Amino acid sequence: MKQKLIDTALEARKGAYAKYSNFHVGAALETKAGRIYSGCNIENASYSLTMCAERTALFAAIAAGERDFVRLVVASKNGVSPCGACRQVIWELCGNIPILLVDESGETKETTSADLLPAAFGEQDLNH
Ligand code: THU
Repeated sequence: MKQKLIDTALEARKGAYAKYSNFHVGAALETKAGRIYSGCNIENASYSLTMCAERTALFAAIAAGERDFVRLVVASKNGVSPCGACRQVIWELCGNIPILLVDESGETKETTSADLLPAAFGEQDLNH
């Protein structure tokens, strides 16, 4: 399943709409039930409207009714980590899950959402 998720993220990367940065990113998210949702980055001439691959995949999964996620793979040229905005969204929707960072040769590094966002702000902070 891990390899299938990696392959899906690499494949999703090919769909990136990244005409401004030319930095292509793909993401693949595995649900507890074993389904996979993927996404790519989608840029805009109004740069700040760009959507990252991670959030594209997460939002597709949530919109399809999914709520339980077990693993995320992010594929890019050099295996970059998710941006700060995506780290917060991953924490909100997935909690602490393993995240695999894959480069274009298929080399992986493994981290977790908790390691990427220490002392995260979350729903528990609103209950005071
Ligand atoms: N990007 C992602 O999609 N995910 C990341 O983890 C890092 C950055 C995108 C946003 C933008 O389209 C391009 O990469 C350059 O920042």
